[in-house]
Amino acid sequence: ATNKTFTMIKPDAFSAGNSGAITKMIEEAGFSIKAMKLTKLTAETAGKFYAVHSERPFYNDLCAYMSSGAIIAMILEKDNAVEDFRKLIGATNPADAAEGTIRKIFAKSIEANAVHGSDSDENAAIEGSFFFSELEKI
Ligand code: CMP
Repeated sequence: ATNKTFTMIKPDAFSAGNSGAITKMIEEAGFSIKAMKLTKLTAETAGKFYAVHSERPFYNDLCAYMSSGAIIAMILEKDNAVEDFRKLIGATNPADAAEGTIRKIFAKSIEANAVHGSDSDENAAIEGSFFFSELEKI
């Protein structure tokens, strides 16, 4: 899985109508889409997805926010996908994100930060399988 990563276009970016612009940036950066789904999390499914953060002070807010509207989940492929995608999206806090990154352009806050990107190959595989069955992965 070294050439795959997982992303979500989060509720703030989807509801603002930025899904197309963000997807265009992702494709222009050389990623190909291997799975894609418009869906909506519940507080419970968001809680499972972000279970690794369950002890963090922002966990309850994060689960409420991530279940507040539709999201687009995608599996992406590219050489060095995890690292290159994190460069493309920029720092978690848009205030710290580099110019030209997706979060710098589209994120509203550290929580409503437009997109998710997996932090390791292992998590990319786990997160992709959270949303997609084998039949849905091309
Ligand atoms: P993401 O990369 O999806 O992984 C965890 C998410 O938690 C992160 O993006 C933000 O949406 C949110 N998050 C991380 N740190 C904070 C924080 N300090 N305050 C609020 N939300 C945070």
